[in-house]
Amino acid sequence: MSDSPLAPVDPFTPAVRALDEPGTSAALRAAGPIVRAEAPAGGPVWIITEDALARRALSDERLVKDPAWAPLSWDRWSAGLEPTAAEQPSLTTLDGPAHTMLRRAHTPLLTARRVQGYADRIATLARELLTAEAPGPVDLMVEFTTRFPLAVICEVLGVPGERLDQAVAACRRLNGTDPAAFAAAMAAFSELAAAALASGGGTAVELRERTPEEIDDRQLHYLLFGLIFASQITTDAALGFLLARVLGDRPAGPDKIDDIVRDGLRRHPPAPFTLWRFTRTSVELGGVALPERAPVLVDIAGINTAPGAAGGPDLTFGAGAHFCVGAQLAQLELRAVAEVLAADFPDARLAVPYADLRRTDRGMQGSRLITLPVLLRG
Ligand code: HEM
Repeated sequence: MSDSPLAPVDPFTPAVRALDEPGTSAALRAAGPIVRAEAPAGGPVWIITEDALARRALSDERLVKDPAWAPLSWDRWSAGLEPTAAEQPSLTTLDGPAHTMLRRAHTPLLTARRVQGYADRIATLARELLTAEAPGPVDLMVEFTTRFPLAVICEVLGVPGERLDQAVAACRRLNGTDPAAFAAAMAAFSELAAAALASGGGTAVELRERTPEEIDDRQLHYLLFGLIFASQITTDAALGFLLARVLGDRPAGPDKIDDIVRDGLRRHPPAPFTLWRFTRTSVELGGVALPERAPVLVDIAGINTAPGAAGGPDLTFGAGAHFCVGAQLAQLELRAVAEVLAADFPDARLAVPYADLRRTDRGMQGSRLITLPVLLRG
């Protein structure tokens, strides 16, 4: 066993880059299959840069998601950690049988077949929101990319449509850094969840029926919050990259919408790193010794774009037991927007050259286009 090589770059420092400009991944990958960097909350973090090792780690029971196993020196707030699994059970903090039980409650609600049933409604939402945008140059990253995934998930869960503005505001607050705004956002999510359960018109009610009895209302609200927020933060960013590709004088790539969506997600995965995992004992990973409570991430963006990776399955939606539960819904949403644009806005195009577009890379907070000025009617 050896020491892990030190990352030659800091992958967590925010940076502004051109759309297809490489980030820090190549430098991390060149340093080794598992490299050590300075975590934003202090101390070391181990980042996996190699596909096979990543897939092994994502199925390794010694790596757990419960923030109770985070380094003791981490401040929970500044590290952006969720409540521990004991405080708040959730898909993203549980492992093992308790996680499997919650997954069984969620999975049937979001299968490919099930979400296909929403296809027409999702296309209608895309059409309505795009039609409501201004005819002149409009920045689709201001409203559309945030509002559309929230309109979809609210519809799926049964959150009444008139609460869409509340959902948008809550997500924006949560993406900020103000603790008071964070508390207000969580209260708003709880109201949205309660409204979905009261309306009875969506899958929130089914989720309640499918979850074990020991999950109380407050905990159920948190599960619904998880679905709403995970939908928005990822699909919002993915839409920006997709729209830039389909509306711009883009580099050569696939022609079929399905392939454009998959290729865009591979090149610009909206979750460039997995969520945190922590070792619950000292482990050996890729020939490197990790202590107990070591934080571990997978460099999804780097592995997706490694030389030779294009042909195989990518890690955009993760792998193993925590594979994204919303993967089918997200891809349906992305395809719907591309199809509605092609059919209803045939003259739509970028209002600036593709080469002028910029993204912000914010480490674990993901990558997002800064602006996306578009002429929807040509
Ligand atoms: C393009 C859009 C999306 C991307 C790229 C994405 C990516 C991911 C990734 C990489 C994970 C695994 C994280 C890890 O293992 O640490 C994940 C988990 C998850 N995603 Fe998504 N996601 C997307 C959309 C959605 C949507 C639409 C929903 C809700 C309907 C959703 C809900 C979740 C949930 C609840 C988990 C946790 C699953 C678990 O831990 O068992 N995601 N997602």
